[in-house]
Amino acid sequence: MPVTIIIGGQWGDEGKGKLVDIFAGQADVVIRANGGANAGHTVVTDQGTFKFHLIPSGILRPECRCIVGAGVVLDPRLLLQEIDELHERGIDTSNLRVSSRSHIVMPYHPILDRLEEDERGDNKIGTTQRGMGPAFADKAARVGLRIADIADPEHLRDRLDAVLAEKNQLLTTRYGQPALDLAEMSEQYAAYGEGLAPYIADTELMVQDAIDAGVDVVIEGAQAVMLDIDYGSYPFVTSSSPTAAGVCQGAGVAPTQVDRIIGVYKAYATRVGEGAFPTELHDATGAHIRERGKEYGTTTGRPRRTGWFDAVQARYTARLNGVDEVALAKFDVLDGLDSVRICTGYRLDGKEILSPPARISDYGRVEPVFEEWPGWNVDTTGAESVDDLPIRARQYVNRIEELLNVPVTYVGVGPHRRQMVTRVAPAA
Ligand code: GDP
Ligand code: IMO
Ligand code: MG
Repeated sequence: MPVTIIIGGQWGDEGKGKLVDIFAGQADVVIRANGGANAGHTVVTDQGTFKFHLIPSGILRPECRCIVGAGVVLDPRLLLQEIDELHERGIDTSNLRVSSRSHIVMPYHPILDRLEEDERGDNKIGTTQRGMGPAFADKAARVGLRIADIADPEHLRDRLDAVLAEKNQLLTTRYGQPALDLAEMSEQYAAYGEGLAPYIADTELMVQDAIDAGVDVVIEGAQAVMLDIDYGSYPFVTSSSPTAAGVCQGAGVAPTQVDRIIGVYKAYATRVGEGAFPTELHDATGAHIRERGKEYGTTTGRPRRTGWFDAVQARYTARLNGVDEVALAKFDVLDGLDSVRICTGYRLDGKEILSPPARISDYGRVEPVFEEWPGWNVDTTGAESVDDLPIRARQYVNRIEELLNVPVTYVGVGPHRRQMVTRVAPAA
């Protein structure tokens, strides 16, 4: 399968990094395609636990070329730090390339992200404070700086000269903050440009060459469809497009070149940050799932909100993204529960509705309709094939498959890259 897309189907942290690492074992190229350092993708191997924010999750596979695509808004300080940390652990990064077209997070972006959040008060989004909103806004407003700009110090200073005056105006007059220094920032970013120089390339051409050569290419989505700027729970979303279409754009791949789209979903649901969450649990079961699933943010350490699997949302995201296969992650986290629930419908003002409502105030008050399934009192973490899963666990997987109308081809039974059961979908 030459071009495979891996995206999240819920609110993020589904276990995309783990699946990308597994696929990278066979692939020639992995491309991170959207978002920025708001992402936190975890890979667990015999060497330990790795958390990637900007570097593609294929980097632990020495044969695999890893690309940060043009769709990523990149914080060069964090990228260089991530590269250094990998070197300290003996991981080679000579196969890493960064798009010359990636936009850059500047020092004023995280500052403005924090100030805007403070100003929202009770309506805060709960952003990761990595500067995503302000950086993507600048990209759309055509005042962003790109990797190609910082690679040339003179050009960088000219561009920054034009942009920083306006940012300083905003910081000082609107927010009463100190102005940022042009010379210091130019120097700092020129140094980042120098540090990144060996990695910079026109990566979209590398990706197209790989596709022409017929080798395996994996596109790694960050965030997830319910955080999408168009189809997510707006305004409680991120500022990029984590959809299959969005990651194509960010990677430099045409929709017609994609062969396989895998949606990663947890066997339950989590959300970090504010916004609607119809199946949220506020009880001991929710706390149990949080502890057993170690549901604490990879990027911010915040406790994740937990709830039951929402098949209304999942069907919506699977349909919109042409998901061919579902990877059902963190299945083992449900081991030992007396019963498990799946949300199969929403009701709003007494009426059944078939998809997440567009208006956030409606989304926040839909009533989930649940069906209950018996739990399985078996530890699944050692399962190596579907046959090792207890019958009740298999019934739960079958039901999700039926509700989504998409085959579940992988079941995650633990964080380690080995703990993934491959499931052959029943013939249609
Ligand atoms: P991503 O953002 O989608 O890559 O996911 P994160 O890495 O932010 O969060 C997923 C968390 O669950 C990480 O701590 C993973 O190590 C862990 N994880 C992934 N798959 C499984 C699984 O099948 N079972 C368990 N128990 N943990 C998993
Ligand atoms: P991965 O790739 C989970 C959430 C934030 C917040 C909202 C907006 O690891 O799945 P932002 O900083 O992007 O402006 O925050 O989006 N968010 C994520 N939640 N996983 C992520 O990435 C996320 N990236 C952003 O918590 O609710
Ligand atoms: Mg994550």
